[in-house]
Amino acid sequence: MSVLTATELKKVYGSGQSAFQALRGVNISVEKGESVAIVGKSGSGKSTLMHILALLDKPTSGEILLLGNDATKTSKKQMNHLRNQTFGFVFQQFFMNTKDTVLENVMLPLKIAGISGKQRREMALAALEAVELDDKAKNKANDLSGGQKQRVCIARAIVNNPEIIFADEPTGNLDSTTGDKIEEMLFNLNKEKGITLIIVTHDPDLAARCDRQIHIKDGLVVEGE
Ligand SMILES: Nc1ncnc2c1ncn2[C@@H]1O[C@H](COP(=O)(O)OP(=O)(O)OP(=O)(O)O)[C@@H](O)[C@H]1O
Ligand SMILES: [Mg+2]
Repeated sequence: MSVLTATELKKVYGSGQSAFQALRGVNISVEKGESVAIVGKSGSGKSTLMHILALLDKPTSGEILLLGNDATKTSKKQMNHLRNQTFGFVFQQFFMNTKDTVLENVMLPLKIAGISGKQRREMALAALEAVELDDKAKNKANDLSGGQKQRVCIARAIVNNPEIIFADEPTGNLDSTTGDKIEEMLFNLNKEKGITLIIVTHDPDLAARCDRQIHIKDGLVVEGE
């Protein structure tokens, strides 16, 4: 079963003289439980593609089917709901509220989903336990090491039991040992919970661990479609 299908995705940044076509007609289909690496040179369009697949940005044209729903035709409100219910995100630049505690950061997606305070706490603590950071729950997010911050991001990504985890360079900023640990966690989630992984990476070893590699060149899929 396909969880995500993109057809003829195009993305143009800017307009007129400064218009730039970052995606030029991308077709991709991702199966449930699959792990997919999106690879390609800097500037080839990987992050652009991931943001559009994750419904964080709209394509200029093209269609996205998420679990059979036409994402490009849903309202903004529905889209936010869909994203919140279905996706987890792990980005290189953490995107945490550094002044809030680790626990508050992990609870945020549940707050948005309207889950009660008590349940939020329990679920967030369970997610922190899964990444072995429950002892840091009360610390300010800012006070953690880079690898620990990345693990908090993984906890936040899994706290809502997502269908798909999107990760943009999840190990890019980390030393190889910490990177390996993060990688291990992502693939465990894939194997044990059947969570679909879509990972943008420059790391050939990480890409090779995925079921499939999609190569992007100048805004087009050149291999792995
Ligand atoms: N907001 C924007 N406005 C104009 N051009 C943009 C914008 N965002 C990205 N681009 C351009 O689109 C192209 C693709 O960018 P994208 O960020 O998707 O690349 P990438 O493959 O993720 O690269 P990297 O590996 O360096 O992260 C680049 O040429 C970039 O300059
Ligand atoms: Mg990028």
